[in-house]
Amino acid sequence: MNEGFTLWFTGLSGAGKSTLANLLADELRLRGHRVEILDGDEVRTNLSKGLGFSKEDRDTNIRRIGWVCRLLARNGVIAISAAISPYREIRDEVRAMHDNFFEVFVKCPVSTLAERDVKGLYKKALAGEIKNFTGVSDPYEEPLKPELIVETDRETQAQSFARLLASLEDKKMINRKGAAR
Ligand code: ADX
Repeated sequence: MNEGFTLWFTGLSGAGKSTLANLLADELRLRGHRVEILDGDEVRTNLSKGLGFSKEDRDTNIRRIGWVCRLLARNGVIAISAAISPYREIRDEVRAMHDNFFEVFVKCPVSTLAERDVKGLYKKALAGEIKNFTGVSDPYEEPLKPELIVETDRETQAQSFARLLASLEDKKMINRKGAAR
């Protein structure tokens, strides 16, 4: 059986996609899975170098990530995407090219993200210094039927992570702890 699939995080900048992606990758490797992460910030420095944040460029970025995830997933790897991926239609397009796709909406209100502002980008976006910033001056379309929603303003990181693992275990998509195949 092919144990590969694509786990697709979507959510605003700073909501916790990369953090959860890294926690998950570490845990899944311990459980005997092969894992790759495609992180938006990282992809934009190589595979998508030169792309900006217009709708067209974001769509291109997401289609590229989706395509690589598909190649990995069909070869037994758990491909984890951590990009904002703000447009529902493109996420669903990526879903449609997969046999096995698990979408996680990393939900957090803009007000909380602007308070945290780890990268200092919300302050700039709210001041109009960064144009077309997702959630501030550019759209974010919430998923209608994601496999899982984690609310990072209401749960601790550990709680979100535990719910994610439990959900993947319930669907028999990952090995249980101590039971590497
Ligand atoms: S996506 O829209 O194409 O999915 P992606 O996840 O690759 O976005 O990149 C988002 C990251 O780029 C953010 O976390 C942030 O660090 C940075 N960034 C720079 N400008 C913007 C912008 N206008 N909107 C959103 N993120 C931006």
